[in-house]
Amino acid sequence: MTRKVKIGIIGAGQIAKSHAKAYLDMEDVEIIGVADINLNKAEQFINELNIKTASAFQEYEDLLLLAIDAVSVCTPNFAHFQTSVDALIAKKHVIVEKPLAVTLDQGIEMIKVAKANEKILSVGYQPRYDPNMKKVSEIINSGKLGDIYYVEIGGGRRRGMPGGTFINKSSAGVGALGDIGTYSIDLALNALGNPRPLTVSAYTTNHFGTNPKYHPESDNFEVEDFGVAMVRLERNITMYIKIAWAMHMDTLGPAIFLGKNAGLKITPAGDGPWSGVWDGGIGAMSLFYDKSTNEHVEEKLPIVKHSLDIFSEKIKDFVNAVKYNKPAPIPGEDIILNQAIIDAIIRSSESGKEIEVELPEF
Ligand SMILES: NC(=O)c1ccc[n+]([C@@H]2O[C@H](COP(=O)([O-])OP(=O)(O)OC[C@H]3O[C@@H](n4cnc5c(N)ncnc54)[C@H](O)[C@@H]3O)[C@@H](O)[C@H]2O)c1
Repeated sequence: MTRKVKIGIIGAGQIAKSHAKAYLDMEDVEIIGVADINLNKAEQFINELNIKTASAFQEYEDLLLLAIDAVSVCTPNFAHFQTSVDALIAKKHVIVEKPLAVTLDQGIEMIKVAKANEKILSVGYQPRYDPNMKKVSEIINSGKLGDIYYVEIGGGRRRGMPGGTFINKSSAGVGALGDIGTYSIDLALNALGNPRPLTVSAYTTNHFGTNPKYHPESDNFEVEDFGVAMVRLERNITMYIKIAWAMHMDTLGPAIFLGKNAGLKITPAGDGPWSGVWDGGIGAMSLFYDKSTNEHVEEKLPIVKHSLDIFSEKIKDFVNAVKYNKPAPIPGEDIILNQAIIDAIIRSSESGKEIEVELPEF
């Protein structure tokens, strides 16, 4: 494509600003329209960011009638499904914010529609572009750890519960799992080469969000603020997930990968109340192995200091895929495994039973 890539943005909230700023920095991109169910927000968004090429829309369907190549879906979780599906049917490529959707069925349908319309469906996990996150994948893929049999991921905030569109079933659908848990799951699944989940046994709760002492919108708080799960993955890997938006604790500890030959420990940056390695905030990494029978080694791995804007990297990668007809940088077909785990965590917690995960082949 020699002309500029034409973009539409659906949902003019906080994260849409990061999308728009990244697009505005790219000479080969033009933002043509911004849609929000609140038209004022779309208009203000365009004015605030001085997007001269863009018009505001209240109905995203009207935006989809324009000659645009791709859309950023930046709505609350629950609207990811319908807006993405409609955009794909309208022959637009889609980058949808994380989580892919709210339920597994929605995610499956989104992938099918993307395939049927031969359009990209990419999902917004910018931590993948963090050099230290890439290093985790490199280490796992190098085979140094041998067969990996156990992974522990997640993290927690002492207090870090959002409000607004993030806390009720009708807009968010899922809480801490869809907000930060999904990043942790992506870190593990991506590094492990996307093993499929087989079973999930989980527990979630929201003791903090529903308590007026801890949350000003406790009356509207319907999603989980805490979740814990044991997931059986293919290749005899067990994954333990723990995630908290709020807790009476400083940290839920490091992420660990245990292999038959070595172990990898990933410690969050800082040990404060927002600790967790879900977002690229890696403070330290160590490899544990034996040099000889009695010689146990902890090899501290260097952390890459960088000034990379990982969000812009995510957007650039998407635009390049659109421009040069490349596959989705973070394809829905991979992320459906992440969605399947979140979906099964919610169902397992509701039923008090282990859930068998059923996934189609795409
Ligand atoms: N990748 C990241 O770092 C990151 C960070 C924050 C949020 N997110 C994700 O981005 C999404 C949005 O989060 P946010 O913080 O921007 O929320 P927000 O509430 O600030 O913005 C969402 C906007 O979407 C609009 N909207 C709702 N339904 C719509 C519809 N059907 N059509 C058009 N517009 C609609 C709302 O009016 C609102 O302006 C969430 O899914 C969230 O998980 C990603």
